[in-house]
Amino acid sequence: MAVRKRILSGMRPTGRLHLGNLHGALDNWIQLQNQYECFFFVADWHALTTDYATPEQIHANTWEMVMDWLSAGLDPELATLFVQSDIKEHAELYLLLGMITPLPWLERNPTYKEVQTQLDQKDLATYGFLGYPVLQAADIIIYRANGVPVGKDQLPHVELTREIARRFNFMYQTEIFPIPDPLLTEVPVLPGLDGRKMSKSYGNCIYITEPEQSIVEKISKMMTDPQRIRRNDPGDPEVSPVFAYHKLYSTPPEVADIADGCRTARIGCVECKKRLMRNVIAKLGPIREKRLQLERRPDDVKSIIQAGNDKARRESAATMEQVRRAIGLGNSV
Ligand code: TRP
Repeated sequence: MAVRKRILSGMRPTGRLHLGNLHGALDNWIQLQNQYECFFFVADWHALTTDYATPEQIHANTWEMVMDWLSAGLDPELATLFVQSDIKEHAELYLLLGMITPLPWLERNPTYKEVQTQLDQKDLATYGFLGYPVLQAADIIIYRANGVPVGKDQLPHVELTREIARRFNFMYQTEIFPIPDPLLTEVPVLPGLDGRKMSKSYGNCIYITEPEQSIVEKISKMMTDPQRIRRNDPGDPEVSPVFAYHKLYSTPPEVADIADGCRTARIGCVECKKRLMRNVIAKLGPIREKRLQLERRPDDVKSIIQAGNDKARRESAATMEQVRRAIGLGNSV
């Protein structure tokens, strides 16, 4: 059998995952497990770059997120799952990459300024925050990954990773690091309950392990076409968040029927939402079931993380041996 290409991706620990996370990344990771040798990790040091003043939540969020990964279908038999801060080798490579990374590469990183403006109540004029992409580069190349599945927002970071890897190889005359390709995922747009982007801070999320009753309540309150005021008004499905969900959760014939029923006022919003509830519950039911099972066996989850960490440590330690040899430091006696 041909050797599988290796991919790696990470998520910052935000706690329980919502449908935006599921359709934006996790579902894709689950698919990729069958095609690639996969490394997926919790980027808890990256969370610390913005939450350094309140680190208490990061550990709990890590745990919640890994539980949700497993519940949704990441399979430790197929993918190596680990926690960044448990693999100290990342920190060593991050330090060494910092030596060769020109400051202007970091200063012109578009997300640097953007996030600083977005999170303006936090002081992000820190060395660690500027170095965010260098740490990310270390995460990726320490596993000699060939591909990095990410969304569009992360492309500048992968591009920077490629430049840093090339510069290292050139500077120390080695070929240790493959140049990783971004694996861009086409993600369906899934709005939050109020039509804005789904986000914890907006309080407009459906969580992937949401109980049935609360799925029903949340969908009942969801925004629809604001122009469709009375039951007999025809609507425009394309402006309704409910319809965006149907596209993901309902079969193509049902989606077609809903669209037509909305435009002709044959189907009312209540009926449309009822059908959606049924389909969302059918998809999320097994995820919630799995989560309840895992909660009864926390030691099993711990062993999964331990095994993933061990594998990640072996892999990254092997890379670091070569890195130290290439630079000629770190093995002095
Ligand atoms: N920066 C990524 C995000 O915010 C998380 C991340 C950290 C990552 N290290 C990575 C993603 C390495 C891919 C590869 O989503």
